[in-house]
Amino acid sequence: MKTLLTERFGLEYPVIQAPMAFAAGGALAAAASRGGALGMIGGGYGDPEWIRTQYDLAGDARVGCGFITWRLSQQPWLLDEILERKPVAVFLSFGDPAPYAEKILNNDTALVCQVQTLKDARRAVEVGADVIVAQGAEAGGHGEIRGAMALVPEISDEIARLDSNALLVAAGGISDGRGLAAARVLGAEGIVMGTRYWASREALVLPKIHQAAIAATGDETVRTRILDMVRGFEWPERYTARAHFNDFLRQWHGREDVFQNGLEQQREAWEKTQKSGDPANSAIFVGEGLGLIAEIISAEDIARIVSVQASDILAGKDAG
Ligand SMILES: Cc1cc2nc3c(=O)[nH]c(=O)nc-3n(C[C@H](O)[C@H](O)[C@H](O)COP(=O)(O)O)c2cc1C
Repeated sequence: MKTLLTERFGLEYPVIQAPMAFAAGGALAAAASRGGALGMIGGGYGDPEWIRTQYDLAGDARVGCGFITWRLSQQPWLLDEILERKPVAVFLSFGDPAPYAEKILNNDTALVCQVQTLKDARRAVEVGADVIVAQGAEAGGHGEIRGAMALVPEISDEIARLDSNALLVAAGGISDGRGLAAARVLGAEGIVMGTRYWASREALVLPKIHQAAIAATGDETVRTRILDMVRGFEWPERYTARAHFNDFLRQWHGREDVFQNGLEQQREAWEKTQKSGDPANSAIFVGEGLGLIAEIISAEDIARIVSVQASDILAGKDAG
């Protein structure tokens, strides 16, 4: 499937693998890229050692790197270090991209801005983003409340109205070819997939966590603050994170006040359970698209499978 996104980045398929904190290391990014997509290292909260190691593991694969923007402001020098590695793209999400945009663009690196509102899409256009990712609330991990169905076409119209060359990409709940076909119809040049790549052999996820998650349906995820509270990450109020609604979240989600009051105690108990990787008590960030995933496969195969199915749908063939 050829689109402006595949042309711009020389990809086989119009797919960007999401830069997922902790899960998207060098092996995943490299496999996604080998598989014809744009692979991304999940620079996340900005652990320099981890990012260096993962970049080395990616070898000479063409990959990009993502950052949680509000965290990058605590150590902006990390961006300079990554830019020296000549990433294909820097993917910024969750915060104002303005302080970093010029530096990225002057480095001949593409700037990808993930947004959750029309207002932030305008900001992304203003700072010169090459790609704007419209992320719906179905998405795994952090995000906001708007669904992709109206957000994507609304941002598509706005990009046209502003006469911008930014390419629009859709994210949130896309795990198979039906999602990619829908994204194309809504005006996007491609998709970002996180949850589908999280459920791949190359993702940094324990097998028992993988198995517990893919046995769940799309009903069994929830947007919550509890996991940030227990991990001690001070996320801006506007963002919550979608995660598997496991026993730990069933116990605490909706009882944030009680949780906050006993936070030290909760944290201690939680940290103990983390060592065993118990799925019932772990932070498992996944989106609604989980319900469309039946097995853990290689990341190398994902973009092709999804794109072939989408092409068949768009060509009017029976893709079932
Ligand atoms: C495990 C996981 C971790 C994520 N971490 C990040 C992150 O560190 N930075 C980021 O910009 N987005 C992150 N995301 C969100 C993705 O960028 C993307 O918007 C989302 O995965 C798309 O929706 P989907 O999961 O339904 O495919 C994460 C998503 C998941 C599933």
